[in-house]
Amino acid sequence: MQVVGRTNERDVWVASKDRPFRLNELLVMEGHSPETAVGEVVETYSLNPLVPLVDEGSPYLMGPEIVSALQAVGYELERDTVYLGKIRVISELFYPVKTGSRARVPDFTEVADLLLQAEPERSMALGVILGTETLDPTLPDYLRHLAPLFQEGKVVDQQGVPFLLDYRSMQDYPHIGIFGGSGSGKSFGVRVLIEEFIKKRLPVVVFDPHYEMSFSEPLLPDLPPGFKESFDSGFQILTVGQDIGVRFDMLTEGDLCNLLGAVSPLSEAMESAARAVLSKKDSLITFAERLDNLIGLLENNEADYRQEFFSRGNGPEREREWKRLKVLQNQVGQPASLRAIRWRLYSLKREGIFHEAGITRIEEGLRNQQVTVIRGSIRMLRVYASYVLRNLYGKRREYRDALQKGQSAVNFPPFLVVTDEAHNFAPKGDHSSPSLREFREIAQEGRKYGVFLVLASQRPALLDETINAQLNTKIIFRTVRSMDLSVISEETDLGREEIRRLPYLPSGYGFISSPIVGRTVAVRIRAAKTRSPHQDNPFDELEVMADSRISEFRSVLVRYLPLNETYINDVLQELEKRGEPMSRAEMDSLLEQMVQKGELVKDENSFVTVFRLAARD
Ligand SMILES: Nc1ncnc2c1ncn2[C@@H]1O[C@H](COP(=O)(O)OP(=O)(O)O)[C@@H](O)[C@H]1O
Ligand SMILES: [Mg+2]
Repeated sequence: MQVVGRTNERDVWVASKDRPFRLNELLVMEGHSPETAVGEVVETYSLNPLVPLVDEGSPYLMGPEIVSALQAVGYELERDTVYLGKIRVISELFYPVKTGSRARVPDFTEVADLLLQAEPERSMALGVILGTETLDPTLPDYLRHLAPLFQEGKVVDQQGVPFLLDYRSMQDYPHIGIFGGSGSGKSFGVRVLIEEFIKKRLPVVVFDPHYEMSFSEPLLPDLPPGFKESFDSGFQILTVGQDIGVRFDMLTEGDLCNLLGAVSPLSEAMESAARAVLSKKDSLITFAERLDNLIGLLENNEADYRQEFFSRGNGPEREREWKRLKVLQNQVGQPASLRAIRWRLYSLKREGIFHEAGITRIEEGLRNQQVTVIRGSIRMLRVYASYVLRNLYGKRREYRDALQKGQSAVNFPPFLVVTDEAHNFAPKGDHSSPSLREFREIAQEGRKYGVFLVLASQRPALLDETINAQLNTKIIFRTVRSMDLSVISEETDLGREEIRRLPYLPSGYGFISSPIVGRTVAVRIRAAKTRSPHQDNPFDELEVMADSRISEFRSVLVRYLPLNETYINDVLQELEKRGEPMSRAEMDSLLEQMVQKGELVKDENSFVTVFRLAARD
């Protein structure tokens, strides 16, 4: 292998007669001491005597100068197959690579600095660096078995150098973005990240609109020894409206307006009305009643309404409430704003967001340095995320600010926020979106307080630009849409060659672009140790469902065989009694299926149809 043609300090061509180049493999180009010139193969070609050598119209092929350079060093292009690799130099050179210098596969130690930024204990093993298989023989033991791969339904040992991300460097380069089209490996990758967070005992809040983030089930029933790991003590799953929610009696005026505004934006009049109507010790019931009463008072004759008000109860508390209503009557004036508030309030209540448990268990999770998965519909989570983040981030900020000023404060830990479908939580160009403000604030100044975002999305082009620009580390999986590709090429340091490969990446393969690493690295994400509870292939699921339906039917049917018209109703009734009701049409279809499978035989004569068990041979 030999450097050919014109060179600079960044891009060179290497040619070989015997050996094809592999994408992403590393090569040392000799003769550059004291520095070593190391490069990564970013494009590969094989030149064959039968194929035209130069295609000046195509940007993909080498120019005519490469051809003459090859000929100059003795390659007989009319006779030999010649392999060519385009190399991107990754070591810092201050002069061009020497043309004609020999290239070879390095030992691990020669390139260790370029590949590893931190020791395994201080970093997360996310996968393997593509193209490093040739370094495997010289890899030290402590770097082996960290990132087994998931391949053809099996877990196989790590091949090559592990990709270790130094999570502590998020202090300098905060926030992670994970982008890729549907099925490209985002959820799988997020799972791997969260498994690492659990191992490192980092406090994390995960918003899980897909109900897929659970870490109890092993990826496969029989994982290789040493790979299986239980995460059960490291995470908890909480559902909004069931285990957690918003405690109405703890709402500030600001919280209330934010929640109401999350349903649909508030006008100034609505906001000031909401602030005025809320009293300190209000519960959802007392607040809703005051709203109703105030609307009643504004829309009716006062004397009549007063009578009605006191007919529903009296006493000193009731008297005080009436006085409050009278004050509010002058403050608010218009019932329309109040109706608008009431509609938003009921909408929140219907979603089930108010729950007396509040966010206590989320806070507990953070203090216990656990991963807390928050489940709910996307609609609900958008509203809830804004409430939760404002609270948690506020507490963290208060604590840090107090420390800074030398005051005492209740300890509150740093934490990470993970969410899939991030473009729904922080959409571009939709300023009324409920949680946009909180995500933006954390993106912009979360670093100061040790609060970091991990945002996954299949549509980076739809994610708020301010936030996108703050995601220092980006993991990019297969991407096909041109809008997303152009955002990716603007927002990362992926080169032309990598962008061109993006639409064709297999699931789980991606590029990691990060100042923590210093350059773009092609990786294959490791096997997750766990799997989502509903990761079954839906077609397998269909088969299982059909099978269980037939076997239920079969267990009833056997006692009525041979079956003729007389018993059909009995069978249907018995199925109904068992809680498996079936229509006549469905039963006919199941019978036909069983005939087709050779389980039953159908005897038809002109009078009756009889189904009987097929004889077994
Ligand atoms: N790192 C990986 N190694 C092996 N297979 C993977 C990997 N990532 C994804 N896959 C495969 O691709 C499928 C889709 O991945 P998933 O993460 O669900 O996609 P996305 O969330 O981007 O839609 C997974 O079910 C898995 O079979
Ligand atoms: Mg997914």
